[in-house]
Parts: sequence; C-alpha cells; structure tokens
Amino acid sequence: MNITVVGTGYVGLVTGTCLSDIGHNVTCVDVDESKIKMLRSGKSPIYEEGIEAIIEKNIHAERLHFTTSLKDVLPKSEVVIIAVGTPSDKEGKADLQYVKAVATEIGQHLDHEIIVVDKSTVPVGTAQMVEGIIKKQYNGSVEVVSCPEFLREGTAVADFFQPDRIVVGTRTKKAADIMNNVFEPIKCPKVNTTVESAEMIKYASNAFLATKISFINEIANICERVGADIEEVAYGMGLDSRIGKKFLRAGLGYGGSCFPKDVRALSQIAGTNGYDFQLLKGVIAVNNDQRKFLVQKIDKALGGIHGKKVAILGLAFKDNTDDVRESAALDIIPMLQKAGVESIDAYDPEATENALKVVSSINTYTDPYAMIEGNDIVVIATEWREFKNLDWKKIKSLMKQPIVIDGRNLLDKKYMEDLGFTYTGIGRTNGKGSASLSKKSNPKK
Ligand code: UGA
Repeated sequence: MNITVVGTGYVGLVTGTCLSDIGHNVTCVDVDESKIKMLRSGKSPIYEEGIEAIIEKNIHAERLHFTTSLKDVLPKSEVVIIAVGTPSDKEGKADLQYVKAVATEIGQHLDHEIIVVDKSTVPVGTAQMVEGIIKKQYNGSVEVVSCPEFLREGTAVADFFQPDRIVVGTRTKKAADIMNNVFEPIKCPKVNTTVESAEMIKYASNAFLATKISFINEIANICERVGADIEEVAYGMGLDSRIGKKFLRAGLGYGGSCFPKDVRALSQIAGTNGYDFQLLKGVIAVNNDQRKFLVQKIDKALGGIHGKKVAILGLAFKDNTDDVRESAALDIIPMLQKAGVESIDAYDPEATENALKVVSSINTYTDPYAMIEGNDIVVIATEWREFKNLDWKKIKSLMKQPIVIDGRNLLDKKYMEDLGFTYTGIGRTNGKGSASLSKKSNPKK
C-alpha cells in the first residue's frame, strides 16, 4: 500500500520505517528540512536501536522515501498517518496545534478517498475533529481512524514487530479492513473498537503504567520506614499473574515524552468532563516527590549539600535513549544548584548533547571515571546497564568520599557495602538479596 507518515519523531519515524520493512511503500514527511536531508542519507536524527539499518535497507529497496512536501505525496497516498507531537500546554492539556495544521493541509490538497490515521496521542474526540477540519475543504469520502501507539523508546523497533496488541478504532468496516491490511504481516491480537475507545485505550494504558510506578514508589518509601526491602516486596508481588512483574521497579519515578504528558492530559480530560480523577492527581504528586526525596537523601548522606561536589550518572529519562524530556536528572540538577552545590559533573552514554540544550552550569564528560574523580557523592539517575558494570572498586579510589545514592536501584547493595561504600537506594534495606525483578547479576569485580 502507499502510506504517508507525517512527523518523523520517535513514533512517526519508527512507524514509517517499519511499515516500509513489512512491504509498504512509505513516504515520511517532516517540515524540518535538515532532518529530511539527514534521513535521505540513511542517518537517523534520533538514537533508537536498530533503526538506521532498517532505514538504509528500505531506502535501497526504494520502499522508503523522505520529503518536506505533504502536498506532493498526498495524490498517491491510500493511508495518511498523523504522528506529530502533542505536547502539554500550560494547563496540562494536549496541545493539538500540529495535528490541526496537518489536518488543514490534508483538506487543502486532498483529491481522492483516503484513510487518515491518528497515531499521535490525542484526547477522545480528536479523530472527529480532524475529520471535520478535512471535510471543511474536501467533499469526498474520508474516514479518520485512531491507531494508538504503544512503542517504548529504546525498544521501539522490537515493539513494532512484536507488539502485545494493535488497537484500531474505526467507524466503518471498510476502514477496519484497510487497517487490517496495513498491519497484516504483524502477528498479534488485533483489537477493533470505536474511535473513542481506541483514543481512551492509549491514555488509560499509559496512566495505568504510571500508576503502577507511583504505587511501587510509595511502597518503597514505606519499606524504608518499616525495614522491608522493595526488591523483595516487588518480586513477591509481581509473581502474582494478576499483578505482573513489569513496571514495578521503584526509583526516581517516570519521565519521558509520554507518561508525564499523558497522565496530565487524562487528568485534564476528566476534569473538563466533570470528573475528578483523584487517583491520577496522586500519581503525579508521588512522581514529583520522588525527585525531592532523592535530593533529601543526598543532603542527608553528605551532611548538607552546600559546597559539595556531586557526580551524576545518567541524564536520559531512561536507558537506551538520548531523550531527556522530563528526565529525573534534569529535575534534580536545578534543585541541587538551588541548595548551593559547588559543582555538578555528569556523564550519560547518549543524552549529553540533548541535556546541554536544557541545563546550564554542569560539567559533562565522555568518560565516567574522569567525571567521578574528586567528587563527594555519585548519584545514579538513569538505569543504564553500563553503570552497573563500571569498576566500582576503582571508582571508590577516585572519590573524595565513597558515597553512592542509587536512584534506580541498579547496583547490588551488599556488593557496594562490602566494597566500603555508603550506599542508599530507594526502599532498600538489608534484603536477603535473592529476590529481584530485574534479575541483576553481580557487577564486574
Ligand atoms: C511509554 C509506554 O511504555 C509505551 O507503551 C508508549 O507507547 C509510550 O510511553 C508512548 O506513549 O509513546 P516510554 O516513554 O518510551 O514508553 O518509556 P517506558 O519504558 O514506559 O518508561 C517510562 C518511564 O518510567 C521511564 O522514566 C522509566 O525510567 C520509568 N519506569 C519504568 C520506572 O520508573 N519503573 C518501572 O518499573 C518502569
């Protein structure tokens, strides 16, 4: 099929590239000329495992194209996928300006029957609104369907090819059949719903996962007070198949371009529809507090932050990405600066460049050991596996004081203490060390 994808962010680029890989003829459109130029040369503007090889392969197979002109590709398109950003506005609502701009452009240039797919995360009712905008200028047949995205950054390519489910919300059987053809080669449950239900499934899924994270973080905070160990508690809970093991990793809370924005938006949607979503307000508050509690832990461990030198491992909002949007590290850095820290040194395997666009007055390094040298404390803010495999014995010898605050419970507590570190995690006491959701091996000795 001839498919056009508008927006080459994480969602649009992965979706477009992978759709070409399963045999469709795909054109990705973006207004950013420099991005399109880069993509045409086979390079990805985002860090996503495996994506460049698939881009290159499908450019050569002439199934994947990039352009800045939606107008030029629209005449040949059977399906147009809208995958532009829907950032939070000042009140926490999803800002639909980019979605509306694409809808207007489609309406202006459309001359034949097509299916328009909302892949951007949008409030219930948006598909109908998009259809209205297109139909203001185009009298022919067009149906706007909802096909929410469940890709995770860092594993987006694998998630595309092996999804848990594909959800498509349609009005007509014809549209459902066309969407079935789009995803035909992907083997997984296909859930066909109303448009409104599909839009809600996306928000409800992200909000539920965020709730799991805030829940386990609160349990971790209680564990610290009662002497239980969160790793053991989460493991024991997660083995109950009704609860499930995933998303029970306590830590600094969730970040990224999706959970924070979508949880706020769902809370707003509820409010504007006359419902007070109390639980979600708690989820947001707990997430914000996890960042504050970490700064308190740093303060306690150092006997005061003022005048101290802090080393931060991790700037990305999670591992395997260069994305720093709403990352815990970037929330904590200004708090430390406000508390009078002497210096902040930071290292991240991929996200340094993006972080420096947002934070100032930090020193960044390309070598973690050089970064840590001479610091009073090491704070782990991102769950990169490579931090686990650092030579912690060597690190101890480089530091002014051997203090580690592990905001992601990445390291083996006992191992660190045996090395002589003062180690503080999240919700960790002296568990037996045999139970862990993340099946962490011992770090390199
Ligand atoms: C999330 C969803 O997982 C995807 O299904 C969805 O498609 C995507 O949002 C989206 O709406 O586009 P993503 O933002 O890439 O994906 O990241 P996750 O892997 O879900 O992690 C989100 C945050 O939660 C990270 O900051 C991570 O560190 C944190 N997290 C995750 C925890 O603190 N504990 C956990 O147990 C799991």
